[in-house]
Amino acid sequence: MLILAIESSCDETAAAVVRMSDEERTILSNIVASQVEIHALYGGVVPEIASRAHIEAISPCVDRAVSEAGITLNDIDAVAVTYSPGLIGCLLVGVNFAKALAFSLGVPLIPVDHIRSHTAAAYFTDPELCAPFLSLVVSGGHTSLYNVPEPWVYEEIGSTRDDAAGEAFDKVGRVMGLTYPGGAAMDALAGEGLAARASGKRGESERIKFPSPAINDDTFDYSFSGLKTAAVNHIHNLRQKAGLSDKAPIDRGEMAEIACAFTRSVVDGICKKLALAIEKTGAERLVLAGGVAANSHLRNGVKKLCEKKGVKLYMPPLSLCGDNGAMVGAQGYFEYISGARAGTDLNAYASGEGAEAAKAVQRN
Ligand code: KG4
Ligand code: ZN
Repeated sequence: MLILAIESSCDETAAAVVRMSDEERTILSNIVASQVEIHALYGGVVPEIASRAHIEAISPCVDRAVSEAGITLNDIDAVAVTYSPGLIGCLLVGVNFAKALAFSLGVPLIPVDHIRSHTAAAYFTDPELCAPFLSLVVSGGHTSLYNVPEPWVYEEIGSTRDDAAGEAFDKVGRVMGLTYPGGAAMDALAGEGLAARASGKRGESERIKFPSPAINDDTFDYSFSGLKTAAVNHIHNLRQKAGLSDKAPIDRGEMAEIACAFTRSVVDGICKKLALAIEKTGAERLVLAGGVAANSHLRNGVKKLCEKKGVKLYMPPLSLCGDNGAMVGAQGYFEYISGARAGTDLNAYASGEGAEAAKAVQRN
């Protein structure tokens, strides 16, 4: 079936056309209009500006997705849309657009959870991926581990108790003076740090040690705020000792060393809880997804862990780790199979819990 999918939960307006069936998972088009340059001016996403930018971008995005797929709107079998979680004003733009489109075409409207869709991006590179599996979604807003017994059933078994991993990457990057969002630049800097260590320039051993984000108990939970604060304090102290002002640039080698130590803590902490989850659940398959799953060091670390544990690892390609429409279409297909349909009264929910609560009210 041909699904037109819409995503507008944060700062990317996205539309895609995907062809999905039992045998096929094909992306016919995948258009992303990023607002990142606008929000970079403010050092983070400004919700009001983001909603307005979605309003401007959504129609051209959908038009392009349809024309690049080489189809017409009348060929569409269903419209899938992200309805939760995310910035409420942003979600409402996508939801309203999708509702009007589905209603005017007379096709089903499928509500899709954003976190689930990040996982579903893995179906495109690994069509054989099948439930049950574990999925760790690491993004700017979430760091959650799910047990997925069916492609449309997500049981959260672990999560961050405060900040998300991506949020911590972006904050530390910002304090170092990197442009928002700093995740990808931190990745590259950590690579420079590793190379400097390997060449002996900075010595083999680690000078900086940051706390682990893995909670020291037998849950699968994380806490990134302590790690984030430790890194931020380290950078402030460095500037103070050098008599520099708050925003003064710091030595590139020093930045690389910090990025390296920070990334090491993130990767080790994530892997520690993943190892525990694999042992406790006996999982044989693991998906690593979300914007931060684009991090090369995290990909390597989780890959090594899975090889050691004999677990098959699925990771979306870098191009599908960030927010996009194709992943919404992929999850939309499975939601459709499970019977999920929305009416013109579909609402948007800022949190996943809000969406669950609304569903419970509907059932009562
Ligand atoms: O999943 P996503 O596109 O949006 C949300 O749903 O939040 O994730 C965005 C996050 C940002 O925090 C960004 O800095 C981070 O993903 N990110 C990375 C990398 N690429 C993107 N973090 C670390 N390393 C990367 N290579
Ligand atoms: Zn996302």
